[in-house]
Amino acid sequence: MKIKNKRREFLKTACAPVVFSMFGVSILEACSSGDDDDYGSKSTVVNNSSSYQNQQRSVSIDLNDSSFSAISEIGGWMNYSAEGMLLLRISESEIRAYSNSCPHQGANNQWSYNNSVFTCGRHNNSFSDDCSNTTMTCYSSSIDGNTLTVTL
Ligand code: FES
Repeated sequence: MKIKNKRREFLKTACAPVVFSMFGVSILEACSSGDDDDYGSKSTVVNNSSSYQNQQRSVSIDLNDSSFSAISEIGGWMNYSAEGMLLLRISESEIRAYSNSCPHQGANNQWSYNNSVFTCGRHNNSFSDDCSNTTMTCYSSSIDGNTLTVTL
């Protein structure tokens, strides 16, 4: 029982490439949480945290805050990196929210968006913006007045 728990603890704490290499999967990337500093992407990165309130598992965003002007127009999007999410204005009454962690290997800061598709520049994989047909993680969101609420 103790050995089993130690193995489980190791698997929880070791980074994925190390664990995968134990099972014969090649290591393509060094251990990383995906939080590197390469911000040379086309995405808009906002680190201003003064305009939201973190309430347990939901995030409220003041859409009047100029930090969110990128999503004021339909089709506008941004990488709200402070909360780890991509925001996409679908209509006057809908803003979709996605995890900004790429489904492929977790890169979070090399996104671009075009023709209803998000593309991660790390390895150029593309993902539909349709939450009913994508491997991206979609969060529920709602707009009330000028407040966007995203439930994580
Ligand atoms: S991490 Fe490989 S495409 Fe995003």
